[in-house]
Amino acid sequence: MAFLKNIFRRKEEIKYPPVTDYSSFITDIHSHLIPGIDDGSKTMEESIDLIKRYKALGFRKLVTTPHIMSDAFRNTPDIILGGLDKLREAVRQEGLDIEIDAAAEYYFDEDFVKLIKQKNLLTIGGKYVLFEVSYMNAPDNILQVIFDIQIAGYTPILAHPERYPFWYNKFEEYHKLKESGSLLQLNTNSLNGYYGPEAKKIAEKMVDANMIDFIGSDMHGVRHMAALERTANEKYLWKLAASGMKNATL
Ligand SMILES: [Fe+2]
Repeated sequence: MAFLKNIFRRKEEIKYPPVTDYSSFITDIHSHLIPGIDDGSKTMEESIDLIKRYKALGFRKLVTTPHIMSDAFRNTPDIILGGLDKLREAVRQEGLDIEIDAAAEYYFDEDFVKLIKQKNLLTIGGKYVLFEVSYMNAPDNILQVIFDIQIAGYTPILAHPERYPFWYNKFEEYHKLKESGSLLQLNTNSLNGYYGPEAKKIAEKMVDANMIDFIGSDMHGVRHMAALERTANEKYLWKLAASGMKNATL
């Protein structure tokens, strides 16, 4: 049995050649790099340090996504795009050759529903809307809202589906999300256990089921970056690199 297992493993490795960095993904679509407007980077210096390290990891484009959340971070397109201008200027002054764009990570609340109806959302790549839900309670009308986002002309992407414990024993819920038209964005660091063993397990299960459309760093600061550097060694990342994420289309 052990012999057969080894053969199987060897085949897996041949199928998913190792990657040493993130260059095949090209674009990171989830981060908090505009200083001082959410719980991400605190200073422009910190943002520039992180961006240098993204570049060293092979990324060529970053779409940064500040939180928009009524109860905590009341960001608007003006605040985010104003912050983007300053970030781009700092990147230019550093002579860093990397493209920076901005959208948002929308929290699933009443204001989000209003913004969808107004068709007033910041998008990734002109059409994708990144959103998250509460870590505590399963949202009861999520399929309706996913429908509304699409009716408004956008394509929804649910952020870090592997981080919602209320779905851990209801894997069929992930299938329902996909069938309703939501894409799924895995937090890259879930693959190295950064968010705990359960998140890692579900992440791997979704990768094996070919359910992941995008990866994202969900970068908030240097601890996330150190973890992201380590995740380049994870076999499941190699598997995603081989299967081709939509990141590379942006
Ligand atoms: Fe985030």
